[in-house]
Amino acid sequence: MTAHPPEPEIDFYNPSPARVHDFLVGGKDNFEVDRAAVRELTDTIPGLTTMALATRAWLGRVVTHLAGEAGIAQFLDIGSGLPTTGNTHTIAQTAAPAARVVYVDNDHLVLAHCRALLTENPRVRVVHGDLRDPHRILDHPEVTGLIDLTRPVALILSSVLAFLGDDDRPHDAVAALRARVAPGSYLAVSHPDNTVAPDQAARLDQLYATLSPPGRTRSPEEIARFLTGLRLLDPGLVHVGHWRPAPNEPTWTPEQAWVLAGVGRLDHPTAASAEAAASVRPPPDGVPYAVGTPREKTGGRVDRRRSRST
Ligand SMILES: C[S@@+](CC[C@H](N)C(=O)[O-])C[C@H]1O[C@@H](n2cnc3c(N)ncnc32)[C@H](O)[C@@H]1O
Repeated sequence: MTAHPPEPEIDFYNPSPARVHDFLVGGKDNFEVDRAAVRELTDTIPGLTTMALATRAWLGRVVTHLAGEAGIAQFLDIGSGLPTTGNTHTIAQTAAPAARVVYVDNDHLVLAHCRALLTENPRVRVVHGDLRDPHRILDHPEVTGLIDLTRPVALILSSVLAFLGDDDRPHDAVAALRARVAPGSYLAVSHPDNTVAPDQAARLDQLYATLSPPGRTRSPEEIARFLTGLRLLDPGLVHVGHWRPAPNEPTWTPEQAWVLAGVGRLDHPTAASAEAAASVRPPPDGVPYAVGTPREKTGGRVDRRRSRST
């Protein structure tokens, strides 16, 4: 195994997105500062816990499908968060025991907590990486050591793209990832939709604006563009509760979980992806990342159903 970089600094004094999310989904790897932030947030954004839980459940259904029926044997989960229930590797390896999973997160605590998984499971690795620098992720020796990019891979981008602001060119970062994976790969995206509960979304945007670098919620059209040109699995880009709901799970309405989610199959690299990939340059350490190509102009299929059924 490649040597780890020097021990990273962990910020105990400010809430971190990974630890806040961990607390929201019932995990134990968080500090009082994170729990206090969640209490404050859920006062003004009551849907937050439901959204995190519903998205986690969606992720489980996606990975079950991809590792099972779709026959995908390798997963790259970027913005994976702290290990909690329903981890990608647990679900993937239940469906396909030989499945290989690399987790990537820009929070050093995630790396630290996931090291236990490394010793226990030779087909799981954890990498410190930033979605704003997609090539560095794909070229990381821990990634290339486990994932064969000449074979289909599932790219999982669950609730991470909202942490990228427009200056970070999230669509180009995704296009760069798409351009480097083999035909037959899949891209799974979930992202908060700012049109269903606009008041709560605006409050979430206020929170994203305080992050460094700042992120944001997005419209269905903006979210659909991450999946442009891919063959979307049924039912298309829908709210998480509507993506192949399982009979044993609660049925979350869009108003309860205003997160859009979709899974697309990449049959051929698109010209836009190749162009974006060629233009991506890694940022100097610590400097916000930007790429220099026009964004894709067309949208994917958006399901705008707003069922209130439960
Ligand atoms: C809301 S959690 C989502 C966790 C998990 N993917 C899920 O859907 O349940 C977002 C995660 O993305 C990570 N993250 C935020 N910005 C990132 C970036 N630019 N690159 C990689 N990870 C990032 C955070 O540290 C956090 O662990």
